Amino acid sequence: MKGLILSGGKGTRLYPITFNRAKQLVPVANKPVLFRVIEAIREAGIDDIGIVIGDTGDEIRQAVGQGERWGVKITYIPQEAPLGLAHAVKISHNFLGDERFVMFLGDNVIQGGISDLIRQFADSAWNSQVVLTPVDQPQHYGVADLDEEGRIRRLVEKPRNPPSNLALVGIYMFDYHIFRAVKAIKPSWRGELEITDAIQWLVEQGLAVHPYIHRGWWIDTGKPIDMLEANNRVLAELSHGNEGYIDRDSKVDHLVTVEQGAEIINSVVRGPAIIGEHARIVNSYVGPFTSIYHHTLVENSEIEHSIVLDHSRIVDVPSRIEDSIIGREVEVTYSPIKPKAFKMTLGDHSRVGLL
Ligand code: DAU
Repeated sequence: MKGLILSGGKGTRLYPITFNRAKQLVPVANKPVLFRVIEAIREAGIDDIGIVIGDTGDEIRQAVGQGERWGVKITYIPQEAPLGLAHAVKISHNFLGDERFVMFLGDNVIQGGISDLIRQFADSAWNSQVVLTPVDQPQHYGVADLDEEGRIRRLVEKPRNPPSNLALVGIYMFDYHIFRAVKAIKPSWRGELEITDAIQWLVEQGLAVHPYIHRGWWIDTGKPIDMLEANNRVLAELSHGNEGYIDRDSKVDHLVTVEQGAEIINSVVRGPAIIGEHARIVNSYVGPFTSIYHHTLVENSEIEHSIVLDHSRIVDVPSRIEDSIIGREVEVTYSPIKPKAFKMTLGDHSRVGLL
């Protein structure tokens, strides 16, 4: 089997964090979501992977390279514009040939990997397998309507009146019939060739589309709140360890990862949390569910339940920072304006003065 990762698109819902960056490269627990996707596919035994890229393609090529780091072979498939998930499949036909493949959205994080799913599909005669999971707000997703025997009756993309609470998770498995489907369908009201419509076409042709119900967690990291949620989930499941330096005056519990070259000086860090390579935590408190990425400084400040990207400085902030995503090379320093609770989504290179 081959793997196909969709990493084009615009990421507007994560602005300003993704204003000039690929949303798939935003880190969750200090590892870009796209890297987690590549690892999940490789763990399932697939080493020939295509990545569909758009405007942010150069940055993705630079970060992922040819895939040597994971022992996989990466082929880049440029998409002229984000014309839909089914369009991405269409332009990947040359790369995929007639092999069965798994398609994984590059901004999705799923618990437990996909090895079992892949095995199940590889051993089956199904033409497609889709992954479904119950969600609270199905209108934001592709939604499946199943019959009494659990077979797919209908699939609809972001319906106003969802027929069920079963959302399509961003992981799909197909055989060559999908290429006929993506040719047969027309763009939707939002101008995209929808993969949901292509799968619906397979169902209508009487082809076997197997619905797999996922019971663990799954997060589409489309919005800042989802990024924080994914960060919580992954941090809670990491096996933690210390490869950096913790001085004698600091308290760091066993649910904290301290990466190489990181320093914790006279500080308290409560896990689950991760402190990235060459980051420095000085006279500070870092609370649960926080990821501090590489080369970032937190000094004389308190931060909890947040993600801070690389090369940022949080210095002398008098109130605790919570529920925040802070971009790269951001500077947050002391400034006297109230209120005391900070809730921020700051883009790369921002400068914020706090009182
Ligand atoms: O996350 C699950 C949902 O993903 C499903 O429930 C929906 O049925 C499915 O349509 C999709 O909906 P989204 O609106 O969340 O898709 P989004 O536009 O965010 O794109 C998902 C990924 O695919 C993202 O990494 C960008 C990439 N992409 C997207 C488009 C439209 C491409 O590479 N090319 C594209 O043309």
